[in-house]
Amino acid sequence: MKSFVILSSLALFASAQAATLGNMLKRSGVLIYDCAIPGTAALTFDDGPNDYQKIIGDTLAQYNAKGTFFVNGNTYHCIYDPKYAESVRYVFDQGHQIASHTWSHPDLTKLSDAEIHDEMCKIEDAILAITGAKVAYMRPPFAAYNDNVISVAKCRGQDVVIANFDAQDWNGLTPDQTNVLYDNFVATNPSTVLALQHETYNGTATEVLPYAIELLQSHGYKLVTVAECMGNEPYQWVQAPVSDLSSYKCT
Ligand SMILES: *[C@@H]1O[C@H](CO)[C@@H](O)[C@H](O)[C@H]1NC(C)=O
Ligand SMILES: [Zn+2]
Repeated sequence: MKSFVILSSLALFASAQAATLGNMLKRSGVLIYDCAIPGTAALTFDDGPNDYQKIIGDTLAQYNAKGTFFVNGNTYHCIYDPKYAESVRYVFDQGHQIASHTWSHPDLTKLSDAEIHDEMCKIEDAILAITGAKVAYMRPPFAAYNDNVISVAKCRGQDVVIANFDAQDWNGLTPDQTNVLYDNFVATNPSTVLALQHETYNGTATEVLPYAIELLQSHGYKLVTVAECMGNEPYQWVQAPVSDLSSYKCT
């Protein structure tokens, strides 16, 4: 009887430990507009993988900076296309964060819970296969969210990232116009910068990015991933990536 009590309390202890460790890395549907750590700046790039992703990764690396890519599965390109899978893996290996922007970029507020799960599940599986990382952060397309979107993200162990600065590259602004927006925002001395831009524009990659990095670094901001600007881990866990992706298809 006595040994049974000891054994079962050991088992309880072991399972409590495992749950605690798991929950530490699982995010819980927190809605994020600002970074948590003062003096950090998180540059984020949506809608890839696309042709400028590696240039963005290299430019960030050149300035000893990190960024975050909110990628899709099949919007402009299929993420399993070897060229784009390799690009995602390249920026992941540089230490930039990979996060979810859903599979096909729908307005999640118009979908059922099952459809929201499906949109999240498919891109999480792709990122897991390509990088080995289980994402802990997502950004809803069009920054459109409601209580369902947040509760599905929470259930899937993710926080929901919006931004406190919109570079408006999606809105037809020229690189020079976006740079003025950056100047004006930095002039307000924000405690943190969480910048939304898109990796799909050459101007964002080759003109705005070097400008923004130099501006932010000269004002003392540390350029980090979204997870690091929140003081958290970027992934729920990281395992070995899939070595042969040839059986993975978008359709
Ligand atoms: C991208 O922009 C850079 C700098 O303006 C330019 O040199 C390059 O040719 C552009 N690339 C494409 C594919 O348009
Ligand atoms: Zn988007």
